[in-house]
Amino acid sequence: VNVRPAQPNDVPAVLPLVRKVAAFHQALDPAKYSFKSDPGELYRAWLMRKTSDELAVFLVADVAAAGEPPRVVGFLIGTVEAEIPIYTLREFGFVHDLWVEDDYRHEGIGRQLVMQAIERFSEIGVAQVRLDVLERNEPARNLFAACGFRASAVEMIRELTKPD
Ligand SMILES: CC(C)(COP(=O)(O)OP(=O)(O)OC[C@H]1O[C@@H](n2cnc3c(N)ncnc32)[C@H](O)[C@@H]1OP(=O)(O)O)[C@@H](O)C(=O)NCCC(=O)NCCS
Repeated sequence: VNVRPAQPNDVPAVLPLVRKVAAFHQALDPAKYSFKSDPGELYRAWLMRKTSDELAVFLVADVAAAGEPPRVVGFLIGTVEAEIPIYTLREFGFVHDLWVEDDYRHEGIGRQLVMQAIERFSEIGVAQVRLDVLERNEPARNLFAACGFRASAVEMIRELTKPD
């Protein structure tokens, strides 16, 4: 497995994984994660820009079977985000999405993606990395805890029914 920064020509191979992470989140919490249209297409131009953004961390994990071209089996996308101006912390790294293909899980690829992202954010110079993880997503919560993240705020949601 090779974990490396994504290049523009990786984007088409990442989009199927974007669709999977979107469907995964939508299944767990449709009130929070319902997409206007195909999430792959919604991400395409944004991901393309992130491949040359100094303030973004866009990594892919690829594997090469003997005699075959490398195949992207995981990705992570993060950006530097501004904090609101009342706080002393001005900006932080934010991990938006992470996915490792089913057949390649439990091999340490997720950990490598997250640890390399932390390293990149540290080089960028932010003092903190944050992310959202669904409470029910135990594998991801364990992975992030194993990489040094702690739980902070718990987001609470209450659906309101629209009047007729
Ligand atoms: C979460 C995910 C990225 C983990 O990828 P992975 O490559 O299998 O993770 P790793 O092999 O690097 O595991 C690292 C650690 O994470 C934890 N972990 C990973 N999968 C786990 C599982 N199914 N159950 C419990 N803990 C798990 C363990 O602490 C593990 O350490 P260990 O191997 O020493 O026990 C992968 O399951 C995935 O893509 N899930 C769906 C998408 C998702 O949840 N994305 C994150 C939210 S944006």
